[in-house]
Amino acid sequence: METWVDFLPKERFVRDIEGKPCLVSVILPTYKEAKNLREIVKRIFRSLNDNGLKGECIIVDDDSGDGTESVCGELERECNLRLIVRKGERGLSTAVIRGLREAGGDILVVMDADLSHPPEKIPEMVRLVEDGAEFVLGSRYVEGGEIEEDWGFYRKLNSKVATMLAYFLTNLKDPMSGFFCIPRRTLEACKELSPIGYKIALEIIVKSGSKKVAEVPIYFSRRMHGESKMNLKEQLLYIQHLGRLYRFRYMGKIQFLSFILVGFSGFLIDTTFYFLVQYLLGLGHLIARAISFFIAASWNWYWNRVFTFMQAGSPRYISQWASFLGMSLISFLFNWGTYYLLTTNVVYFDVHKYSAFVAGVIVGTGSNFAFSKYIVFRVRHGLDGAM
Ligand code: GDD
Ligand code: MN
Repeated sequence: METWVDFLPKERFVRDIEGKPCLVSVILPTYKEAKNLREIVKRIFRSLNDNGLKGECIIVDDDSGDGTESVCGELERECNLRLIVRKGERGLSTAVIRGLREAGGDILVVMDADLSHPPEKIPEMVRLVEDGAEFVLGSRYVEGGEIEEDWGFYRKLNSKVATMLAYFLTNLKDPMSGFFCIPRRTLEACKELSPIGYKIALEIIVKSGSKKVAEVPIYFSRRMHGESKMNLKEQLLYIQHLGRLYRFRYMGKIQFLSFILVGFSGFLIDTTFYFLVQYLLGLGHLIARAISFFIAASWNWYWNRVFTFMQAGSPRYISQWASFLGMSLISFLFNWGTYYLLTTNVVYFDVHKYSAFVAGVIVGTGSNFAFSKYIVFRVRHGLDGAM
């Protein structure tokens, strides 16, 4: 699959540094990285300065208690750096979100603090954003990308499986990467961010709906000091996170399909009872029509409640059922009204009445879906809301 970077012009323009004070905010989440900080911060600012970029560095530390504060105290005097210490809170993704919120730049960069991600790549990533990219990823799995460490079989397999599981969420080659650069508008395009675990880049790609994405190859170095905080718990959280992202991305389609299937089964129920009531109970066809509609609409309500709109999770049985029946009746009026208007006003539909019948069914189904989604089964409490 082609990514957007394939369509970029081959020659890069040379940026006019003067009179263009674009600020780059580099966010570093840290947990027990005191020993790496001096080196990474130095390399970040050297890389920015060498390319005429103004920048700030934001360190979000989860109260590591390893001397991070005193190192940052020294660094703050030398460069444009800010330390945020979160007390009683742990988590890579939430730390990154906090940093993004506090950042003042037009262009936002997130990277690991353990020197695995090369700061020398930042200017190239910034340039792609300036060229219009909505999301630029530092990637190990594109041509030119590499991993220094000789990862064991388990970690390699792990990384590959994790990447494959995200296949239908993005066409990026390394969506597990924690090194990325975005314009502020990409962040603003995310209505809410609620990542769990490590995969903040994936969260932002999916939630922002970024289409213009680019990958820059990186050399992923062995971490300098200390050890990785990745563990089994993080991997389980990742599965949970994936579930949420898939639901977010495909919910609309799944819901509509389910509504149509339920509606079709309801149509079969409607037909069955229409005949049963007449031939078994001996009632007239008009009353049979009303009874079968009532039964079929109740059937639809029940299955939409337990299936199509299960996340609405409302305990109100009777009022929800009554509201669904009411909305179904209104939708039927739309259905009938469409049929009436088309056949009386448009010659074509007067001649081809069944076309008007189908048009009515489409209008009625559409309105019933909208009523169900936004009124009858409206979600009252959002589950997410970290941002
Ligand atoms: N504030 C904060 N809180 N920072 C954290 C936390 C936390 O709970 N956990 C980890 N970090 C910081 C680390 O200090 C480091 O700067 C960065 O997040 C990455 O953590 P590592 O522990 O070095 O992760 P890794 O090397 O196993 O994972 C790397 O590769 C993954 C893909 O294989 C990272 O780049 C991940 O983002 C990436 O998904
Ligand atoms: Mn690391």
